[in-house]
Amino acid sequence: MFDSLQPLPPDPILGLNAAFKADNNPKKVDLGIGVYKDEDGATPVMKAVKEAEKRILDSQMTKAYVGPMGAAGYNEAVAELILGSTLKNSLGGRRITIQTPGGCGGLRIAAEFIARANPNTTIWVSDPTWANHKPLIGSAGLDFNSYPYYDYKTHSVDFEGMLSTLAKVPRGDVVLLHGCCHNPSGADLSQDQWIAIKDLALKQGFTIFIDLAYQGMGDGLEEDVVGVRLLAESLPELIVVSSCSKNFGLYRERTGAVSLICQNEVAASSASTLLAAAARANYSMPPDHGAAIVQLIYEDSSLYSMWQEELKGVRDRINGLRVTFSESLKKSGVDNDFGFIQNEKGMFSFLGVTQSQIQELINKYAIYLVDSSRINVASINKSNIDYVTESIVNVIKIT
Ligand code: LMR
Repeated sequence: MFDSLQPLPPDPILGLNAAFKADNNPKKVDLGIGVYKDEDGATPVMKAVKEAEKRILDSQMTKAYVGPMGAAGYNEAVAELILGSTLKNSLGGRRITIQTPGGCGGLRIAAEFIARANPNTTIWVSDPTWANHKPLIGSAGLDFNSYPYYDYKTHSVDFEGMLSTLAKVPRGDVVLLHGCCHNPSGADLSQDQWIAIKDLALKQGFTIFIDLAYQGMGDGLEEDVVGVRLLAESLPELIVVSSCSKNFGLYRERTGAVSLICQNEVAASSASTLLAAAARANYSMPPDHGAAIVQLIYEDSSLYSMWQEELKGVRDRINGLRVTFSESLKKSGVDNDFGFIQNEKGMFSFLGVTQSQIQELINKYAIYLVDSSRINVASINKSNIDYVTESIVNVIKIT
């Protein structure tokens, strides 16, 4: 039965990471996968996380099942982190949150929920969007369409194009937005643009679905959710999938959530049974460890301050690197203007180089980047910045 199977092509991001690991070039640089790296190229466990782990190890008395919704305390912590306590309290029983195995598990569960609510829904994704959005959400059987998002010429959001396409999206369809630190472009919406989208959603009646994977990695924990909160305050319904992979550095612990805002409490209580059933049918219940860490950090004021400080360090380093790297490219005398890298948010930006230049960077210089030319700025450091800059200059000049 398995004899006739043909291998699938490698995943565009994870496959690149495997190729990077297998490369013996001592100068190799991984600008591919979206994992934060410090100045030494390491992805350390945050101190607040280590401390929380110690306490959990000492105090945990059971490994009994937690249930498909996950830990109630974690769900409340996540909802408060996203919405703030005032908004969360004012939404009351209209809001529900379910713990999921990472943001990916959340996207899949949310997609199944949408497919159940309206099997004819089309999901509108930004062009471009994260390479795993379509596989994850599409596996629930939903159709896709796209709206213009990134203008490669101006290196900014094509808001006119986006709005004019969204103006045609009907009631019953779902528009997927990136809450902050757009992946792959790094180009984010301004507050006024979030307001315009909110107004359009109210007029058209489509549902908004936010993927929030990078809260705190752009401008700040509060600043990065201005758009999410604006929509949560004004729209009758909203779906938010959030992840603790990046901001708590819990990547492999698979710690995420789906939060739903429904028209009323009755709808919310029905919705929570659908989410729980989707979890039960897929993985039964989410893993505990990452969620227990997040809950403990959130509930303990000293761990929370420690974590906030560390996250600020991560954010400041990324924003500093954006300036240093674009200045390094400018000083190299290359014709292309890379100034836009300074204005973008989170870990990613497009380098804007061609396919053959990307291949040359990988094959000749062992500098790994995604085939859209997306780079992870956080992988740059003092010891590789000159090599990365020179290699980019070389491939741009040669081709
Ligand atoms: C990325 O975009 O590189 C990260 O979100 C990691 C992943 O799973 O693709």
